[in-house]
Amino acid sequence: MRSQLILVEGVPLSDIIAPHWQEIHNFQARPGDVLIATYPKSGTTWLQEMVEMIRHNGDLEKCQQAPIYERIPFIELLQCMPPDAETVNALPSPRYLKTHLPYQLVPSSFWDHNCKVIYLARNARDAATSYYHFDHIAKLHPEPGSWDQYLQRFMSGNVGWGSWYDHVKGFWEEKDKHDMLYLFYEDIKQDPASEIRKIIRFLGKDLPDATIEKIVHCTSFSQMKKNAMANYSTFPKEILDQSQQTFMRKGQVGDWKNLFTVRQNELFEEDYRKKMNQTTLKFKVSIKGMS
Ligand code: A3P
Repeated sequence: MRSQLILVEGVPLSDIIAPHWQEIHNFQARPGDVLIATYPKSGTTWLQEMVEMIRHNGDLEKCQQAPIYERIPFIELLQCMPPDAETVNALPSPRYLKTHLPYQLVPSSFWDHNCKVIYLARNARDAATSYYHFDHIAKLHPEPGSWDQYLQRFMSGNVGWGSWYDHVKGFWEEKDKHDMLYLFYEDIKQDPASEIRKIIRFLGKDLPDATIEKIVHCTSFSQMKKNAMANYSTFPKEILDQSQQTFMRKGQVGDWKNLFTVRQNELFEEDYRKKMNQTTLKFKVSIKGMS
């Protein structure tokens, strides 16, 4: 069974999430809560695992006590699957939470309490590529159809959680008004230790170099892929069917080059320029020495 998308305040959300919009909107953040915000397929789980390792001072065992989606609850899914809202309310402070909501839909209690927000962005081409593969296995979204059709949908924002362009720009334009750290997937890939240091500082912690090295190792793609508490292998199969393809797919910068035709890339670029011409936000679409 495949879900459909329903517009909520102009943003398409899965029909397993949309009916609970009022509860999501009214989510009560508390002072000290830390929110991890991303557009889907931008490396959310990677960032979550880094934040977890930092929270536990590099103690991997403590990060293995539950799957990542229980350790850092996803606020859009509290009404659909465990952990439920009651469990999340009972968590001790500071809580670490995840959302894919665009800036304008983030529950206002996060801003009212000046919660720390870590936003992670990934270049549009790789995000679209990853999302296309993901939507083959994610039952909470409609069938992806052909790549060409999917790319059109991505460009017009007709995918779960809406427009990539509005999402990355929305948080970028507002970041200085809040306690927000804005990170890039490509930067973490290029120099994970330096980006992990930024997160540590942002969270007001101080960890020795050896711990940072351990966090880099434990959150590398190869380690996370075989870590059942981080790789979503325990996630309900009715929502994520990993029989054909795993959640931890490739974890690369530039994999879009294996999917986009030359023509698709030209059309994408033309459209991208129009949508992104008013912003100072810039992305890397490849990294030297990486695919
Ligand atoms: P790919 O589909 O390109 O492989 P999210 O967690 O936001 O759903 O993002 C998933 C994407 O992040 C997938 O991208 C996944 O493979 C990638 N990813 C997960 N863990 C990673 C890691 N440790 N290093 C690099 N990429 C990772």
